[in-house]
Amino acid sequence: MHNPQLNRHGELQHLLTLDGLPREVIISILDHAAPFTEVTEREVKKLPLLRGKSIFNLFFENSTRTRTTFEIAAKRLTADVVNLNVSTSSTAKGESLLDTIDNLCAMHADMFVVRHSASGTPVLIAQHLHATGRDHIHVVNAGDGRHAHPTQGLLDMYTIRHFKHDFSQLSIAIVGDVLHSRVARSQIAALTTLGVPDLRVIAPKTLLPSSIESMGVRTFNDMREGLRGVDVVMMLRLQNERMAGALLPTPQEYYKIWGLTAEKLALAKPDAIVMHPGPMNRGIEIDSAVADGNQAVILPQVTFGIAVRMAVMCMLAGQ
Ligand code: NCD
Repeated sequence: MHNPQLNRHGELQHLLTLDGLPREVIISILDHAAPFTEVTEREVKKLPLLRGKSIFNLFFENSTRTRTTFEIAAKRLTADVVNLNVSTSSTAKGESLLDTIDNLCAMHADMFVVRHSASGTPVLIAQHLHATGRDHIHVVNAGDGRHAHPTQGLLDMYTIRHFKHDFSQLSIAIVGDVLHSRVARSQIAALTTLGVPDLRVIAPKTLLPSSIESMGVRTFNDMREGLRGVDVVMMLRLQNERMAGALLPTPQEYYKIWGLTAEKLALAKPDAIVMHPGPMNRGIEIDSAVADGNQAVILPQVTFGIAVRMAVMCMLAGQ
């Protein structure tokens, strides 16, 4: 099947989703990222691989980690980064998104890093670039609606590989608001492609998408049962801003049933790692003692995210 993210030589042209991205491409991104983790520990944290390239960060939705780590990644590769301030940009005056894109193309953009609350925005931009003969410009999806967050999925894969090595031996549980989560969708796509044999999703019925079983996961409505014996616990944030209507009891009750506490974590393997994409709601989906405990790898996830984003940007636009 043709994958619109790959060019006719099978190289990565855009990074829009992890759905259908071949295993070799995912592994190659993780392998490319590995040496970049060392660069970020050097005193002079710079490589010239994207010298002279202009990268535009277009964040139409809030972000701290993702926007900042994309900016740091681009700067460490010596690219010129422009952060468009969307709230004061011309889109706020009524200019269409594609008119904004055309204007940034006229400034010789080489790459757009896009976050938008509407699912499909990065794909729309990629299609527009293709239709207007600008295939040399790359698009990276930094999170679109409930659809996908591919670089988050990749940095999660990097983190799991770093701590647990072999995907084919793992039991992994994704816990929480799967229904509204683009992160969960990207994680599930990558973990199934990488051959994780035991992939579980733990959530209240109201926060599970109806199509979930077709994604190759086992679902659990009992958190204790779902956590038993897992190697990796991947927590999700409760996406309050995406919820329409009353899908949940109070936050206190949610925490009682679905919050990750030390007592529930004790059911996983003793060396299980705990992940969270951030931002965390302490005392709602995760207890502070667990978030700051010695099984948590939440801050390493952030650090690895820089190397993984460097790898993606290099594979797209590097010489
Ligand atoms: C996630 C996002 O924005 O999709 N955060 C992130 O990128 N680190 C997850 C979330 O908002 O819950």
